[in-house]
Amino acid sequence: MRLSKYFLPTIKENPKEAEIVSHRLMLRAGMIRQASAGIYTWLPLGFKVLKKIENIVRDEQVRAGAIEVLMPTIQSADLWKQSGRYEDYGKEMLRITDRHDREMLYGPTNEELITDTFKNGIKSYRDLPCNLFHIQWKFRDEVRPRFGIMRGREFLMKDAYSFDLTAEEGRKSYNKMFVSYLRTFDRLGLKAIPMAADTGPIGGDMSHEFIILAETGESEVYCHRDLVEFDVPGADLDYDSDLEPIIAKWTAPYAATDEEHDAERFAAEVDEKDRLQARGIEVGHIFFFGSKYSRPLNLSVQDSTGRQVAIESGSYGVGVSRLVGAIIEASHDDNGIIWPKSVSPFDVGLINLKAGDEATDTACENLYNRLTKDNIDVLYDDTNDRAGAKFSNMDLIGLPWQLIVGPRGVKSGEVEVKCRATGARETLSMDDAFNKLISEFH
Ligand SMILES: Nc1ncnc2c1ncn2[C@@H]1O[C@H](COP(=O)(O)OP(=O)(O)O)[C@@H](O)[C@H]1O
Ligand SMILES: [Mg+2]
Repeated sequence: MRLSKYFLPTIKENPKEAEIVSHRLMLRAGMIRQASAGIYTWLPLGFKVLKKIENIVRDEQVRAGAIEVLMPTIQSADLWKQSGRYEDYGKEMLRITDRHDREMLYGPTNEELITDTFKNGIKSYRDLPCNLFHIQWKFRDEVRPRFGIMRGREFLMKDAYSFDLTAEEGRKSYNKMFVSYLRTFDRLGLKAIPMAADTGPIGGDMSHEFIILAETGESEVYCHRDLVEFDVPGADLDYDSDLEPIIAKWTAPYAATDEEHDAERFAAEVDEKDRLQARGIEVGHIFFFGSKYSRPLNLSVQDSTGRQVAIESGSYGVGVSRLVGAIIEASHDDNGIIWPKSVSPFDVGLINLKAGDEATDTACENLYNRLTKDNIDVLYDDTNDRAGAKFSNMDLIGLPWQLIVGPRGVKSGEVEVKCRATGARETLSMDDAFNKLISEFH
């Protein structure tokens, strides 16, 4: 992509309304714009990151055996009345009346709708287990939307729902999602720690929040230091094997959010040097709630003995749009964002230090074409801006590698390659620079 043809409205000054660094940087890097309180337009650069995150989340859901569907954003109130949550959800639910005076709502979550959908499709216990997920916008009329897309009113969530014949089978489905979350956040370049959590309005008795550590997190968390260093299962993991040992390993050390924190237990179980007290951002939340929705919504099947049993379920959320901010909170410096390779909006930023100079233009075009042909996604700054402005803009938007081409270097056949994360610069021949970048991404 040529910057001269792109839409990248970056901002030099820090916007006053932004309280935390990710919000500041997303506005400055031209990723989002507020449309109204807690509701955002995703500009091209932000949208690319959002899609990359979404695809990794999807990939790991599918790997764990979940099947993708797409439920609507607008739902009828009927099922919510049946489950009792139409009243319980309170003001966070955006209620809408259609032209026939029917009560509708913008879905804050989808347990009711998926339970009803599954009920209408399932014929026998042989259709179990099943895990259906979708990635869809949600609306929650938060009292205090803040921190940009971190706590928005409209936000993108991946939500999966498992259906099993027995609680024991249900636990296996829960474990699959637990492990798939470990892999998902790892691929996003994040250290997410599963913490025993309160089940809140969704109810049930097994729940974990996946928390990443960041100073600006909304919750106070307490855990054993070891959890930050644990290895995540590889891509070759067989999800149908026994996952209990992995779960046991990850849930053995102490880890709790402030609601669940027990200071005495923390002191007794964790050596002082291993105690980690920090702020955290919730990026995922999984629940097992048994028959909480299947009973009121009459989702049951005959088991192999002919007995009618209520189906056992869980739900599993990932804050896809929140993750964009969470990744920035975890990975930035004074100059801007530092994207992990897996979610960066472009792979390489190519800077032409003297657009209009024939030799420099030719060298840039050449590199741009070669890299693009090899599936490297390049953002080529071909504008007439000053070199200083180009450098600071490129640092701001945080692409992992920069390729800097100026007239002096071109004369001797050399360009500069800069690593955004370390700031290290290397002068290389054009071919070596090309090969280095290719090897970084393939
Ligand atoms: N207002 C919001 N803005 C952005 N992301 C949100 C918001 N509310 C929830 N999420 C994300 O969706 C995930 C699943 O939501 P859930 O656990 O049901 O919400 P809550 O923790 O508010 O009860 C959360 O872990 C979080 O990452
Ligand atoms: Mg939650």
